[in-house]
Amino acid sequence: MTHSRLLRGAVLTFNADPGEAPTPEADSLHYWEDGAVWVEDGRIRAVDDFAALAAHVPEKIELVDYRGKLIMPGFIDSHVHYSQLDIIASFGRELLDWLNDYTFPAECRFAERAHAADVAERFLDEMLRGGTTTAQVFCTSHPGSVDSIFSAAGKRRLRLLAGKVLMDRHAPEALTDTATGGIRDSERLIADWHGKDRLAYSLTPRFAPTSSREQLDAVGGVLRNDQSLYLQSHLSENRGELAWVAELFPECRDYLAVYERYGLVGPHSTYAHGIHLSEDERARLADAGANIAFSPTSNLFLGSGLFDRLATRDAGVVTSLASDVGAGTGVCGLTTLQGAYQVGALLGQPLTAWQGLYRLTLGNARALHLDHCIGRVQAGHEADLVVLDMAATPLLARRTQVAESLGERLFALMMLGDDRCVYATWADGDLVHQRDARDHRGAPMERAAAHS
Ligand code: GUN
Ligand code: ZN
Repeated sequence: MTHSRLLRGAVLTFNADPGEAPTPEADSLHYWEDGAVWVEDGRIRAVDDFAALAAHVPEKIELVDYRGKLIMPGFIDSHVHYSQLDIIASFGRELLDWLNDYTFPAECRFAERAHAADVAERFLDEMLRGGTTTAQVFCTSHPGSVDSIFSAAGKRRLRLLAGKVLMDRHAPEALTDTATGGIRDSERLIADWHGKDRLAYSLTPRFAPTSSREQLDAVGGVLRNDQSLYLQSHLSENRGELAWVAELFPECRDYLAVYERYGLVGPHSTYAHGIHLSEDERARLADAGANIAFSPTSNLFLGSGLFDRLATRDAGVVTSLASDVGAGTGVCGLTTLQGAYQVGALLGQPLTAWQGLYRLTLGNARALHLDHCIGRVQAGHEADLVVLDMAATPLLARRTQVAESLGERLFALMMLGDDRCVYATWADGDLVHQRDARDHRGAPMERAAAHS
């Protein structure tokens, strides 16, 4: 049976990169003050002014009244570790010590399938509470950690990318695999999950220091055989890490060259961080079409450095935006944008709300080559939506009330907002998070009401 709903509210969606100027590029976005999104069987059937659309929808359609709220495409997180949910906000370390003192012990617990299954559910709850409907997720080196997140995401019909961490050295024994064993496990997981429902597999060598040459080479082999697979890893995050990579791979001229040598840098590759890249590395990333996941709250929290967003962009490198939880300090995309603004402020590169919200939605969909199905409120796209409350806190309500333009209101939302502003989240055409459960009002639409 066809399931049809009409969501009424303000609607904002991007068609193109709005640019860096305070005023967005012409035609880069659509905004309907009294808009409506017609959702049918998991897809967006149409979007328009409410009055125009209401005349075309079936008589008995269910009307969901989001007047006073802002409907946007669901947020996308290009890089996050679900296994680090419980060590978010761990005190006082930089990257390499943080991995040893907090991260690896936490990841050891995922040997237990029940723990993995529980954290997977809690992570998805948190993600949806933050308005994020798609993420590219690091699991742990335990295959069961991957089965857990895919199984949980599949049940909720989410679009999600994930993969088993490959790590055959420089980590606790309980977390290390072998070059051949890690690939065998990955191939089993690919067979079980890649392309099933809305799920995709991302090969996941943790970072150069924790993989042998044999392991990196084997990953390249799998990737060459199936171009539809993704790859996620870390690159050039921390000065100590850079020195260690140079020591471990003296035959490579720089950090990126390690991954290039094994065929791991292509359009489906996401490298988190890329803070300390040379111009030459940026040019090579641009040629390869790989994307750098800018993870601002993580970079600030671990003191890793300031990502030069504009230099990366000017070099032609695709950039995406990521929380990188548990080093990042929040799963909600709005929290990530606050970090991005602060990093930009320190570099004289203020981030507009237009650019930030574009990055969280269509920009990230493009970086992950998913813009044919997510990232926009557009007919034919999958119905993954976030409904934002711009008056969620007294301060935000006050600030947005005195704002004189939409750009100013969105900027206040970006700087003051968090998961309290996520009023509802929809995935695959269904409500998957409601902030105030008793407020959900889905009602058959009366013709008269439709035209009021
Ligand atoms: N580099 C290697 N592993 C990790 C990780 O788990 N988090 C971050 N931020 N950087 C890494
Ligand atoms: Zn990371």
